[in-house]
Amino acid sequence: MKPVTKMAAVVLVLFTIGAFISPVRSLDNGLALKPTMGWLHWERFMCNVDCDTDPNNCISENLYMQMADVMVTEGWKEAGYEYVCIDDCWPSHQRDAKGRLQADPKRFPRGIKKLADYVHSKGLKLGIYADLGTFTCGGFPGSLGNYDIDAQTFADWGVDLLKFDGCYMKWTLLGEGYTNMSIALNQTGRSILYSCEWPLYEWPYHQPDYAAIRKACNHWRNFADVYDSWDSVKTILDWTADHQDVIVPAAGPGGWNDPDMLVIGNFGLSHTQQESQMALWAIMAAPLLMSNDLRDICPRSKQLLQNTRIIAISQDPLGRQGYRTAKVDSFEVWERHLSGGRLALAVMNKQEIGGPRGFPLTLATLPSWKICHPQCNVTQVLPSYKELGVQTLLSELVVVVNPSGTALLTVTPI
Ligand code: GLA
Repeated sequence: MKPVTKMAAVVLVLFTIGAFISPVRSLDNGLALKPTMGWLHWERFMCNVDCDTDPNNCISENLYMQMADVMVTEGWKEAGYEYVCIDDCWPSHQRDAKGRLQADPKRFPRGIKKLADYVHSKGLKLGIYADLGTFTCGGFPGSLGNYDIDAQTFADWGVDLLKFDGCYMKWTLLGEGYTNMSIALNQTGRSILYSCEWPLYEWPYHQPDYAAIRKACNHWRNFADVYDSWDSVKTILDWTADHQDVIVPAAGPGGWNDPDMLVIGNFGLSHTQQESQMALWAIMAAPLLMSNDLRDICPRSKQLLQNTRIIAISQDPLGRQGYRTAKVDSFEVWERHLSGGRLALAVMNKQEIGGPRGFPLTLATLPSWKICHPQCNVTQVLPSYKELGVQTLLSELVVVVNPSGTALLTVTPI
């Protein structure tokens, strides 16, 4: 065999083995091998279409162009944030003469294709939003009956990601709709990352089929929309832990559970709580889609969102989602297995009264501490970076955690 042919044979064998050992097959579009990183307008800018009185914050091409500019100049792109995503309320209420969706002409005078060109010229990617039912959740035209034409329109414009919502659709038709749009996107021949809300709309009726969802989508929302509040972040975490047996096995390279946007840098979370959201979203292998105003963000929030050690946990190549492993004394412990036999550990202090409390890292509180036999190396990533050095099973290491805060650690076996 010629060396090239031999290599191809080895790759084929490895690929075939890989296909058999992966628990659930993922959407085969080669995208989202690591959790998606970017910016999405919804939580911060919602359906603000009033460009006359609020030109700086309304849903218009300027908003995305400015975010793209800042993403390049302020280190976001370098940190890994790549997708600039439009959410609801971008289209005109009328389709064009050929039945295609079109952007609101007043707010997007140059159209989406020009916006995509601009975003691409910055080395970034553009995301857009549509809905599989008769209307979007905000009341704009839905895609029902037009999946092929809409997928082709997005591909022609050079769109790189589609968030496909599930409002105004009979729930029994969700599976068919989400799958058909997945096929339509693939048939355009353009690589378009496919972000679904399929399970979120099915849970009220029955347990969704995660194998089917993973085969069609690159990530999927399971639960309610995130708000700019600690209560909202907590509810999402509780829901995730309560359903982890069902949802965690579905996640892996190519397909991820999506607990919704990061609201870090807005108004509702204290800095400590922002650290908790960042730490837990990394542990959950969640898409890191920020919804904030990157043109005006406080330096501490920016530093947290760009923290390379946390991003490395989020983007770990093993691609396994972490989960809650213990609840003791108003602490929660979450763990994520990382490549190289390493472990990421999040210890969250759920007691919202009093001051910082210590949590001892021992075999009793933390069964996976066994990787510290005979020795391990521990690094504290949050609340501040600290090398905690070589530890053993008998070390008496205590991490101190603020109320509603999280200590994030990595543990490397030696
Ligand atoms: C739904 C989605 C949100 C957002 C809005 C837009 O509520 O879950 O993320 O896209 O619709 O209307």
